[in-house]
Amino acid sequence: MNEKENGQNRISEAELIETLQNLNKYREKIAQVKPEDFKPTGELFQIEGTSFQVQISPEATRGDLLYFISHIEDLVKRKLRTVSSEEEDKLKGKTIMNHYKGNITPGNDIIPVPDFEKAKAFVPRQHLVFLTGAGVSAESGLETFRGEDGMWTDQERVRLASAGAFYYDTEKCLDFYNALRMRIAEAEPNEAHRLMAALEKDYEVTVITQNVDNLHERAGSTRVIHLHGELSKVCSSDNRTTCIKEYPLDAPIRIGDKAEDGSQLRPSVVMFGEYVISTDEAVSCIREADLFVVVGTSLKIHPAAGLIRYARPEIPKYVIDPAEIDPCVQLGFTHFKTTASEGMRRLVETLRATSLRGADNSCY
Ligand code: OAD
Repeated sequence: MNEKENGQNRISEAELIETLQNLNKYREKIAQVKPEDFKPTGELFQIEGTSFQVQISPEATRGDLLYFISHIEDLVKRKLRTVSSEEEDKLKGKTIMNHYKGNITPGNDIIPVPDFEKAKAFVPRQHLVFLTGAGVSAESGLETFRGEDGMWTDQERVRLASAGAFYYDTEKCLDFYNALRMRIAEAEPNEAHRLMAALEKDYEVTVITQNVDNLHERAGSTRVIHLHGELSKVCSSDNRTTCIKEYPLDAPIRIGDKAEDGSQLRPSVVMFGEYVISTDEAVSCIREADLFVVVGTSLKIHPAAGLIRYARPEIPKYVIDPAEIDPCVQLGFTHFKTTASEGMRRLVETLRATSLRGADNSCY
């Protein structure tokens, strides 16, 4: 017996109503993405100016409903773009919604679900996820940590970047961070930062960085997750998760400067001996990535180093670094063994030459 003949799999009235209620939740999310592109107007949906009059078949199965929900979630999560003719072929046969003749929707005779015949004209934007480290900022003149002249070759600086130094040698620890903050203020984003930011025009892009500088943001990246905190912010020294606020990089933090809770102000970064507060957001981004790129990190520090294992095996993966990065090699990443900016130029060319598509329907 196939699914449609099996009455067990038919959608019940209650499930339909629940789906409709869930839809309202999706509509809110859609509105946050870009309200003018996706407006539910009574029984109509509008996506990028196209109206969808949508109705559900009494024969629709539970599987159809689940497919519909996941499709909507995809549309919501990512912005939309039109598809080429060969992609359209692949989407054929996914039309599942026809007429529903009953009258079960609250306040509406027509159940507002997308018409898949029309929805096939849209597929989500691809999600590119970058994991970056000190190497991406090297061409901006900021030191890496473990290279020949890296910051951690000086044991005194390792000591000063620790929670112990902050409590027992506060002034020297603050001086160390203030000098670093000033160097970041004077640095400029380089081509690698800028190329990553420019990809937002055609792709959904998330940058997960171990860096405490703000060069990704200054290059224009809008979605940056800082695993090790940000030197352009300060926080409470009683509780690192509170009283976080922007603080000019060129203004030194002094002993006696207070957070709102009365504690000594401190840079909002992870010091040696402290936990990385949350990697959950980074993990879920990497899990849903369509392409994953590691740039300029030795992957010596956990939990950041472990993140590379969350990328789905089937997606394209790249590592950009002049050095051998063994954990990536073992997982089959394509290695651009060069600097961040040269590697980013090659990545952009590769995207153009492959089938990973951007927003404007051109084939990259
Ligand atoms: P590392 O210093 O460990 O590694 C820097 C990486 O960048 C190395 O693999 C270099 O080969 C590479 N590199 C150097 N120049 C480059 C260039 N021009 N272009 C591209 N890559 C280049 O720095 P991270 O891996 O970022 O944590 O270090 C991770 C964490 O360790 C840091 O966030 C920091 C440190 O302890 C904290 O402070 C909490």
